[in-house]
Amino acid sequence: MTERTLVLIKPDGIRRRLTGEIIKRLESKGLNILGAKFMLLSEEKAKKHYEVHKDKPFFKDLVGYITSGPIMAIVFEGKNAISVVRILTGATDGSKAAPGTIRGDYSISIDRNIIHASDSEESFKHEFPIFFREDEIISSKYGDEDLF
Ligand code: CMP
Repeated sequence: MTERTLVLIKPDGIRRRLTGEIIKRLESKGLNILGAKFMLLSEEKAKKHYEVHKDKPFFKDLVGYITSGPIMAIVFEGKNAISVVRILTGATDGSKAAPGTIRGDYSISIDRNIIHASDSEESFKHEFPIFFREDEIISSKYGDEDLF
């Protein structure tokens, strides 16, 4: 099933110059970029994005961290994009993520874990409008879809 998913390259991923590496891995897998934005997230938007964690003890730090520097928000589309991107991303805690995954290769902690990816269609529906308007999405085909 063709799906869309939202990826955020977090401030640590940007500062460590991993943007190209992360995009390369997701593109090479067969996902199309439909939109991308280099941006500073407001506190209000960060709180909305992480709403499900609002009662967790780490919520304040999470919001402080994601707003601490620029991030890259990207919408990818492809076959089973949500689960495929989560597999490539790896376990939330970088110290436990499998080698070969983005977090497994580049993160050693849970609070500096390089990347966020929607975990379900419901999450994507909640997250997408925080970062993009529908008219910012360009869904033209790459022309190589038959190869994936
Ligand atoms: P992310 O995929 O962006 O979604 C929620 C984030 O909360 C998660 O990545 C982690 O970075 C962070 N997180 C989850 N659990 C903890 C925790 N126990 N302590 C600190 N941060 C956490």
